[in-house]
Amino acid sequence: MITDLFGRPLRDLRISVTDRCNFRCPYCMPAEIFGEAYQFLPKAEILTFEEIARLSRLFVEQGVNKLRITGGEPLLRVDLPNLIGQLAAIPGAEDITLTTNGYLLAQQAQQLKDAGLNRITVSLDSLDDDVFKQMNGRGFGTRRVLDGIRRAADAGLNPVKINAVVQKGVNDHTLVDLARHFKGAGHIVRFIEYMDVGNRNGWKLDEVVPAAEIVARIDAELPLEPADPNYVGEVANRWRYRDGDGEIGVIASVTQPFCADCTRARLSTDGRIYTCLFATDGVDLRGPMRDGATDAELTDIITGVWKVRRDRYSEIRTEFTASENPDARPKVEMYQIGG
Ligand code: GTP
Ligand code: 5AD
Ligand code: SF4
Ligand code: SF4
Repeated sequence: MITDLFGRPLRDLRISVTDRCNFRCPYCMPAEIFGEAYQFLPKAEILTFEEIARLSRLFVEQGVNKLRITGGEPLLRVDLPNLIGQLAAIPGAEDITLTTNGYLLAQQAQQLKDAGLNRITVSLDSLDDDVFKQMNGRGFGTRRVLDGIRRAADAGLNPVKINAVVQKGVNDHTLVDLARHFKGAGHIVRFIEYMDVGNRNGWKLDEVVPAAEIVARIDAELPLEPADPNYVGEVANRWRYRDGDGEIGVIASVTQPFCADCTRARLSTDGRIYTCLFATDGVDLRGPMRDGATDAELTDIITGVWKVRRDRYSEIRTEFTASENPDARPKVEMYQIGG
């Protein structure tokens, strides 16, 4: 098992399979910037499924047991179940999951399950159509996403998790409704503090609703009690409904950063390894791989990167709350590494 400079092992790999998305959430890919003329990566620069599967196997050999497929929007990648099948065949890849906006999920859920996907997380910021239309930047209503969630649960991709980014004054008045809707359905809604990822969303601290406040607002209507983490380093803090009817989670990366237990590496669409969601640069694996590097040589790059890792961006940002981008360097965009 390899560890970084703070003794953190490498346990999760988040794999971005496309930098494209059919949504334009203003907090991620604002439509003003990511318009029709925006240049996404050309095909030749995107890792093939075989390349992703090969690198994933090397990461699993170094201790990774969870593979999460992300994007952009991963369901836009043609023939995705083929990749899932290749990942599911890797010995030691115990938990294969995917984060999607759900728009294309209804028609793909069963195939993904059949290919070996274990579970799924669907982003849904509000049940209120007007709020949701604003937050996906494309004017889409919630119906297709809700259908996707239903079909995923029917296909057995459980537990289905629902991710909601909370932005003050945008959707925070609809949180309790979202919790109530999925309570008792076996789905786990997770409320995410709006983060300063990327360089383009104009993040401000006063748009963040602290997780403690989110919990208090839900608890006032649907009483909650704290629950223990499922595993060390779990991103979400768990809260159970006191009536036994399920649980929610809160992801407090702004007010209670969790860098100390961060075991995540990220593989970008173009084959770079990033050791933090807020990193400036990644280290290229695609170039060496296409130049004929052996498994041992690629593994050396991976372990070399991890052994010198010292990322703790969110903790540092919290120490400098006044400054919105503490080290003032540009950050990788979320759609390149998938959150
Ligand atoms: P489980 O595997 O179900 O525990 O999910 P997860 O929490 O690992 O994955 P998910 O993709 O659902 O993460 C939820 C959200 O938490 C992400 O979309 C990010 O917004 C945030 N997040 C995940 N990992 C990190 C991280 O390493 N740092 C920070 N700051 N935020 C993270
Ligand atoms: N802050 C918090 N969460 C974000 N996501 C995207 N951008 C942000 C942000 N600025 C979430 C998405 C999705 C996951 C991949 O990350 O809504 O649930
Ligand atoms: Fe697309 Fe997800 Fe970014 Fe929204 S948050 S624009 S759904 S990648
Ligand atoms: Fe990990 Fe970076 Fe997130 Fe901290 S800010 S938890 S180091 S990805």
